Formats: sequence, C-alpha cells, structure tokens
Amino acid sequence: INTIAVLTSGGDAPGMNAAIRAVVRKAIANGKKVKGIKRGYAGLLDEDIVDLGAQDVSDIIQRGGTVLYTARCAEFRTAEGQAKGAEICRKHGIDGLVVIGGDGSFAGAQKLANLGINTIGLPGTIDLDIACTEYTIGFDTAVNTAMEAIDKVRDTSTSHERCSIIEVMGRHAGYIALWCGIANGAEDILLPEKYEYDEQQLINNIIKNRKKGKKHHIIINAEGIGHSSSMAKRIEAATGIETRATILGHMQRGGSPTAKDRVYASMMGALAVDLLCAGETNRVVGYRDGDYVDFDINEALAMTKGISEYQYEVSKMLAV
Ligand code: F6P
Repeated sequence: INTIAVLTSGGDAPGMNAAIRAVVRKAIANGKKVKGIKRGYAGLLDEDIVDLGAQDVSDIIQRGGTVLYTARCAEFRTAEGQAKGAEICRKHGIDGLVVIGGDGSFAGAQKLANLGINTIGLPGTIDLDIACTEYTIGFDTAVNTAMEAIDKVRDTSTSHERCSIIEVMGRHAGYIALWCGIANGAEDILLPEKYEYDEQQLINNIIKNRKKGKKHHIIINAEGIGHSSSMAKRIEAATGIETRATILGHMQRGGSPTAKDRVYASMMGALAVDLLCAGETNRVVGYRDGDYVDFDINEALAMTKGISEYQYEVSKMLAV
C-alpha cells in the first residue's frame, strides 16, 4: 500500500472528523501518502480528490459534521458506477481506501474491494444500526444531544402539566429512542422493534399516571414509528390532557462530539490504517466486548442484531 484515501458517506455523524484525522495521521506515521475524497462516492466519481497532510486535519477533532462532506450516491449503486470508481482510484494511485459510513456505504466498499481496491469500513452513523458492532461513531453524541433537548421539553411539559411526544431519529432502529427513554426517565418509549401500535394502551397509561399525580407524561417516539403530530392530537382528544409533539430532527446529527466519540473514532481510524498496511481488505471495524475488532464485510453485512430484551424490560420497569 502506497496511498490511502478516506471518504465519508451517508448521513454525517459527530466524530467523523476525529476518524478522518486519525486515518490521515496514522497513515502518514506509517509512511503512506494520504488523499481525501470529498462528498463520498459522488466525489469519487467526480474526481473531487485532494492530498492531505498531517496539518490539514488540525483543529477538526472537536467539530461536528465531516470536513470531507458527505453524500448518498445513486450512480455508485450501479455496476458501471463502481467500475468507474475503481478506475478513478487506480488513476489517482489510491490502493487503500477507508470508508466511514453505514451499511449502505460498506456495500459500496465491498464492491470496490471486489474490483481490486483494498477497502476498510468504519461504522459511522448516529443510528447504531450496524449489526457487527456495539458502537457506531456519532451515536453517543446524538444521544447526549437528544437527552439535553428532551430535558428542556420536560421542563415546560411539567409546568403546563402536559403530555409530550418527542420524536428522535434512528431510521428503522430504536436505539436512540431506547437510550433517551432510559436517560430521560420517559413514561413511554415507542420502538419500531417493539411497539404493537396499541394506542389505547398508551392512553390508559397516560390516564393512570395522571391519576397517580404525575405532572407530565413523556413519550419518546422513534422516527421508525413516526406520526408524532397526529398521535398527539388523538391522545389529547382521548385523554383531555393537552399534548404536544416535538420532532428533534437534524439537530441530533450536529454538534461537537463527546469524548467517547472522539476517542473511539480515533482508535478505529488508526486500526483501519493498520489493517490496510497489514494487507487486509474487505474488512469492517467494530467494537465488541470491550475491544476493537474487524470482520469480513460480507459477513458483517449478513449479521443481524436487535434491541436488548433486558434493557427494554428495565426501561419499562423504571417508568412507573
Ligand atoms: O442515518 C442517520 C439519519 O439521521 C437517520 O436517523 C435518519 O432517518 C436519516 O439519516 C435522515 O436522513 P436525511 O439527512 O437524508 O434526511
């Protein structure tokens, strides 16, 4: 390996800059040249590629977003797009590539690996929905950001003795919702993996809590369930309790990364470079049982994971 490139792809996530910085500096420390590819696979196809030195990644570890920009690229999902991408890598002397993103981005990395470009994926998504790893870059920051926002909604919800539905991101997964549900002491947590769409049960719970003297009722609703505004209207009509919906939205993806996201992203970035330098390809880095690990991308993409039953049980037990 002579030249290692790095790109970020899919939704941005706090900590991606820490990972970029680690890839660049570790690669240089290992005697390699480094290039940054802007705007993910779209930038690769546009040859939006720059040389990166150690000082080009100064002053970014604390910044949210990604200095390389990111995109979702339809053309790269086609065989022609992938072949063009591999050709452009060869043209620019890129023989190792670190792809920071989610499962969709790994699928692209796998295709490039099949076409002879050595690739390593790093799990970068706030959703935590990558099966091979217990940690993804950005999840910790997103949960902390959402948690702080939900605390604020709770203040006003309690003052007005209202019910509040707060919708958090996560695409089809409920990890952010479950973590916030526990961290914010929510009365109800609606997860795509668990919710039985029994609104009457939800309504009964709100009425029961109000009779007990609770001044607020916080419902964390996962994006995968959605419909928070119409749900709020139905709940207000059925309970007579003023109900408001708050959709936190993209603010959950921004902001300065937590220490955990900075450190884990740095470690993963360094490991990706070491794997490439050891001749590995078609691997994805993860974190499991207290250690940084790596898996074959094909195996990683075939894995599945779900919400921890015990964590879910505890969340319900604590919400009394
Ligand atoms: O994957 C990260 C994520 O923020 C999801 O939680 C959400 O469903 C999606 O991206 C939103 O994507 P966009 O920024 O394209 O609206």
